[in-house]
Amino acid sequence: MPSKLMKHILFAASECTPFIKTGGLADVIGSLPEALQQSGETEVSVILPLYHGMPETYRKELTHCADLVVPVGWRNQEAILHTMSRNGVTYYFIDQSFYFGRQSAYGYFDDGERYVFFSRAVIEALPHIEGRDIDILHAHDWQTGLAVAFTRILRPDIKTVFTIHNIQYQGWMTHDAFGDLMNLGPEHFPGFEWKNMINCMKAAVFHADKITTVSPSYAEEIKQPYYGEGLDPLLNERAMDLTGIINGIDTDEYNPMKDPYLYSPFKTSRAKKKQNKTALQKDLCLPVDPEVPVYAAISRLVDQKGFHLLERILEEFLQENVQFILLGTGDYQFEQSFAYLAHRYPNKMAAVLKFSEADARRIYAASDFFIMPSKFEPCGLSQLIALQYKSIPIVRETGGLRDTVQPYDETSGEGNGFSFANYNAHELLYTMRYSLLVYHREELWKPLIQNVNRSRFSWKDSAELYNGLYRELAVT
Ligand code: GLC
Repeated sequence: MPSKLMKHILFAASECTPFIKTGGLADVIGSLPEALQQSGETEVSVILPLYHGMPETYRKELTHCADLVVPVGWRNQEAILHTMSRNGVTYYFIDQSFYFGRQSAYGYFDDGERYVFFSRAVIEALPHIEGRDIDILHAHDWQTGLAVAFTRILRPDIKTVFTIHNIQYQGWMTHDAFGDLMNLGPEHFPGFEWKNMINCMKAAVFHADKITTVSPSYAEEIKQPYYGEGLDPLLNERAMDLTGIINGIDTDEYNPMKDPYLYSPFKTSRAKKKQNKTALQKDLCLPVDPEVPVYAAISRLVDQKGFHLLERILEEFLQENVQFILLGTGDYQFEQSFAYLAHRYPNKMAAVLKFSEADARRIYAASDFFIMPSKFEPCGLSQLIALQYKSIPIVRETGGLRDTVQPYDETSGEGNGFSFANYNAHELLYTMRYSLLVYHREELWKPLIQNVNRSRFSWKDSAELYNGLYRELAVT
């Protein structure tokens, strides 16, 4: 590809592995830029806030790039722009201790103001980004939604793409935020206002040249009131510019053959997978039995992930000869009810109420089935990781779950998992019981596992779709 056709894309986001992670957004920002770069068609830089919680190992690699003055309403906030390079991608960090010198990324009373500042700082950082000029700003979720709006207004020479990873969080602020925090004329107010509030995600959807979300099904769903969280009318207006591109995962990172956390690395060997099962059973004080089917859930314990359904039927399912392992933290109500079940059925259930990457990898490797009955799921990465570790996903047919898990059909022998349509506890129970039946019938289990072994979710195809979108923008 001749270099003059190369485009320079700036990713703006609030989290990115390995620097800071609260959810799947960080995995995407931590892996998609490299995949895009490998295509040879795009150069990608990434800009992030510098949080206090960023590990020292990465912090010491930073070098000073520029001093910035960022207007926030009537104030000017000083900030430092640092940079570092990692696996061919250049990262920029906005260092401003008043806003980001805090341990975690979100959950503060002034989150709105913090990300208005960050979005505006992205604009001030643009002249200092090295290499060729930025052609496209690609921002992710509400925290960087205003970077899209500010670019459109202040730097109309740069095109914009906005990706919705989860429409439930929109960045709402009261009206006065517009006058207090943004230095824009009143003619811009309507582009930021939604339902009598300032709404960062609305501002992004309104101003972006292209809007994407993380699966084709979710792109359709958010145009409907049930999933659209109030933004569906606007998304319908912008339907021509809205597409869904499925996430990939870093298949080098999530590779059961090379995973240092596993008791026994494996590729497709069932015997080795069973060694992972028995070792974990021992660790969790469950009866050691390589043949008993192990069901697992690894998740934030929140409403979105469908734990109301599981809570309703798990005790009934535990009457079968099965084991269930849960890993995660979240809402008190869920933590309590799963802890209670583990206490009541110590030979069948373990509830590990924390988050640990090592435990997560071991559970993926040890389990036979992976439960994800989400109420909504923009893409979902855990079902993809589960497939990599040969744990068969059992999902509700929504968003990215619908696009990546094909229900097993015993007549045709097709499918790589199990699924159910309605948000209904007994549909989940029925599906789990059916999976158990398949587990015990070798002639059904074998083709299913073969399909799982063939499932591929690297970034390659999706990176090509993003490149197509960038190409379209370059000619408009
Ligand atoms: C959000 C969504 C999840 C998606 C992830 C990355 O966390 O809830 O479904 O996989 O973003 O796009």
